[in-house]
Amino acid sequence: MTKTFTLDGKVIPFEEGETIMEAAAAAGVYIPHLCHHPEFKPHGSCKLCTVNIGGRLGAACTNRAAEGMKVESETEALNADRRALTQMLFVEGNHICPSCEKSGNCQLQAVAYHLGMLTPHFTHFYPARDVDASHPDVLLERNRCILCELCVRASRDVDGKNVFGIGGRGIKARLIVNSASGRLADTDMSVTDRAAEVCPTGAIIRKRHGFTVPIGQRLYDHHDIAEVPVAGMERPKK
Ligand code: SF4
Ligand code: FES
Repeated sequence: MTKTFTLDGKVIPFEEGETIMEAAAAAGVYIPHLCHHPEFKPHGSCKLCTVNIGGRLGAACTNRAAEGMKVESETEALNADRRALTQMLFVEGNHICPSCEKSGNCQLQAVAYHLGMLTPHFTHFYPARDVDASHPDVLLERNRCILCELCVRASRDVDGKNVFGIGGRGIKARLIVNSASGRLADTDMSVTDRAAEVCPTGAIIRKRHGFTVPIGQRLYDHHDIAEVPVAGMERPKK
């Protein structure tokens, strides 16, 4: 017999070992997330996918589904926390959406729209962060980095190169490049690497492909992020 749990009252089937996020996605239910990607080991760092699991809070991307579990996700309180977390991500970096090449294709921006975030609310940190334009084909714009570590995981686990890492702690945490000079040009990163296309924001951009699709005609210009399947995490239409 198929095992099930409930998510906001809806019965969700799951297979042994699946996380709440995986089972929900397979059933066509969106749980907001940024650091999760089905191709990579869950990281559990952004906390956007926090849900109420039978009275305690936990990340949907790292907690396994269990028979009879009662999970809440779409509550006003959880969405208010998600909005606050998203606002913090915006003020901790320098996100200038109107001038960003990723605008309309950016998951951070799309999650903010989905959650009804209207202002950054918190005071901007305006951190000084380096842009690395040294690589011939890939631009690293750290101002837009949300430290989700997807590029770190993609480079290490798929490309087998270990180009990226996180250096520093807390507010001083930064995306670092693992070369003696610290520059992307001095790594073996290639534009065809998985790490070059996995970034959910505009922090890793392919050069010479700017604005090939005009702003206004991009994915999240027309679709709420909840309607858009992430590759490998297909959700049937609700
Ligand atoms: S560069 Fe992009 S993929 Fe890498 S940690 Fe920053 S936001 Fe995540
Ligand atoms: S998606 Fe689960 S913690 Fe980031």
